Amino acid sequence: MSLFDHLQPEALDPIMAGFQEFGADSRPDKVNLGVGMYYDEDGRIPILQVVNSAEATLSGRVTSWGYLQPDGLPALRDTAKRLVFGDTLLAALNDRIVTVQSLGGTGALKLGADVIRRLAPASTVMLSRPTWGNHPSIFAGAGLQVAEYPYFDPATGGVDWPAMRDAVAGMAPGTVLLLHACCHNPTGADLRPEDWQELAGLIQDRRLVPFLDMAYAGFADGLEADSQHACWPGLACRHSSRPRSPSPSPSTANGSAPCPSSPLMQPRRAWSGTN
Ligand SMILES: Cc1ncc(COP(=O)(O)O)c(C=O)c1O
Repeated sequence: MSLFDHLQPEALDPIMAGFQEFGADSRPDKVNLGVGMYYDEDGRIPILQVVNSAEATLSGRVTSWGYLQPDGLPALRDTAKRLVFGDTLLAALNDRIVTVQSLGGTGALKLGADVIRRLAPASTVMLSRPTWGNHPSIFAGAGLQVAEYPYFDPATGGVDWPAMRDAVAGMAPGTVLLLHACCHNPTGADLRPEDWQELAGLIQDRRLVPFLDMAYAGFADGLEADSQHACWPGLACRHSSRPRSPSPSPSTANGSAPCPSSPLMQPRRAWSGTN
């Protein structure tokens, strides 16, 4: 009897299955709505100019491919932190921020899920209905409970914010609330700045654990604006007072004013949740 006798073949990932079906379909007018990637007019996935430039810059500069520390490349972690939080929040919160380099977004989600499982094994992770197809299996695979909150309203093509708000308001303390920072996958429907702000207050009041998946920063309103969603508890009110195309402010390096009323900027309340 082999160790592997009970291993069952996994069903093909539904997104990848669609990709394969698309490839096999001979109709000339077919459109691939499955995998979210940019294609050029010739059906090729272009390499962004910035990637080519970065490769050219690095070429010849790298002198060694030694081991990294387990948490990754310090310069990358530092830059990512700056990108997500911006200079102002970073200065205020730096001692509460930890960055770890991961293998892509999927690896980051898996790391986050494992951390939650270790710290609070009885946690339930609430996912938007619908959500990215791999979210449920990543969190359930880490041994966590997974459930859904209402999100998309097919009638309007937008977020059903009242339904989402009511669901969030009823969540138990310690519940992990998974949010898409921008470009919600698969619907493309995002919260409005005022919704983010209200949500931040609810999360604070209900003592929920926000878990933001920021897979598409830069694809909605630009890199800076999109990144700010990922630290919305501190930045939501900056959004509501900012024009959509921000002009740099002389007061701060990233063109945003700090938000004194934001939950993140206030002293943390003592945690007294059950899990
Ligand atoms: C919402 C969301 N999170 C995470 C990922 C995974 O990112 P990566 O391809 O870097 O593993 C994706 C990719 O489609 C995604 O859409």
